[in-house]
Amino acid sequence: MSTNYCFQGFDTVSLAKDYGTPLYVLSEDMIREKCRSVRESFLNVYSNTEAVYASKAFLTKAMCKIIESEGLGLDVVSGGELFTAKEANFPMGKVIFHGNNKSLEELEMAIDYGVGRIVVDFEEEIGMIESLAKAKGKKVNCLFRITPSIEGKTHKYIMTGQKDSKFGIPLELESLKALVDKTLKSPWITLQGFHFHIGSQLFENHIYDGAIQVIGNLAKELKIHQGMELQELNVGGGFGIQYRGDQKTRSISFFTEVIMKSVKNTFEGLGLSVPRIIIEPGRWIVGEAGITLYTIGAIKKIPEIRTYASVDGGLPDNPRPALYGAKYDGVIANKVQEEKTEVATIAGKCCESGDILIWDLKVPKLDSGDVLAVKNTGAYNYSMASQYNKIPKPGVVLLSGRRANLIVKRETYSDLLRNEEVPGHLEE
Ligand SMILES: Cc1ncc(COP(=O)(O)O)c(C=O)c1O
Repeated sequence: MSTNYCFQGFDTVSLAKDYGTPLYVLSEDMIREKCRSVRESFLNVYSNTEAVYASKAFLTKAMCKIIESEGLGLDVVSGGELFTAKEANFPMGKVIFHGNNKSLEELEMAIDYGVGRIVVDFEEEIGMIESLAKAKGKKVNCLFRITPSIEGKTHKYIMTGQKDSKFGIPLELESLKALVDKTLKSPWITLQGFHFHIGSQLFENHIYDGAIQVIGNLAKELKIHQGMELQELNVGGGFGIQYRGDQKTRSISFFTEVIMKSVKNTFEGLGLSVPRIIIEPGRWIVGEAGITLYTIGAIKKIPEIRTYASVDGGLPDNPRPALYGAKYDGVIANKVQEEKTEVATIAGKCCESGDILIWDLKVPKLDSGDVLAVKNTGAYNYSMASQYNKIPKPGVVLLSGRRANLIVKRETYSDLLRNEEVPGHLEE
């Protein structure tokens, strides 16, 4: 039995030794458990439902394989995510393509690949899709993303459903009617329904009620005036997870029970048939399935102020604390048996004072060379990583039962320069 911190039965200090640090570690079993829970508590309980994983949270070809085998679809938001799914042979009919500024090239790619649905986010996109679809002789299924004017209780940077948002088509009845009219007349677009996404890291389930009511009212208007029958309603993702202390991760049914009840009451109450309901969880599926391992280097004690313990990564592999004050918990993996007698602030190695991973973490007496495991880094860490300060991105190890496999190699210094060129006149 190891005396070190274990994650999914693996000694994390050995993982750090074998693969180096910083290192993202992901548990396949935990991801599958979450997917299973989506199936058992949502898909198998309610008919006419669908669940797609929001791949922006974490996407690699291996992740596509896991999601496919668990029977979920995939939400992608760029040509790059779409390409990853295609390279992993993900069934394109189960892909939903989002984006608040899709380019013509990305839309063409989506139509060529045959994605299941394109989510229209701005007015001009309808014309772009229509001309591409016509040129290719392919009919395209679409949803409209509607901004429901609902404010989720979360950080401003991950709120999306409020009126003042760059996402979605504003809730202006007359202009929406005109857009719907235009789309219904097109022989190249099938308008399946609507989508909304209130925001991310939400803990209130009844926040979805308001948005569902907004869409219900809209559907009623459109049925009366345009004869449009809403087939599908995609309610987005946003289900929160616990990072540090206060807010606890809730079951998927905590959210979906309220959503499904609200949809039934709203639509039946308005005399409308209940549409197919789609959910798009990202963070909830993968967030808790990942940790990041670092090695502690410089330790600076500023008397009567604080102790900074710097690690060999930081902002480039996890920009969330600097971006919106995200809080994480961590443990000194090689000293889990020792009493936490000190408080240290875990700093990254970037040239930014804001590069602090964890403020005021209780730790045992620290030494350079200790291994820090930061918990719940599965979502929006690897996928948001950069090479700032020309720091190569860490590798990703996938733990599957008793096996550990590198699914993304650590970048090398040569990788950093792969696309660089020096013009001839500078070589002289
Ligand atoms: C349209 C859409 N769906 C789903 C998600 C996933 O959100 P979360 O990871 O919070 O579940 C996002 C996140 O930004 C989103 O924009």
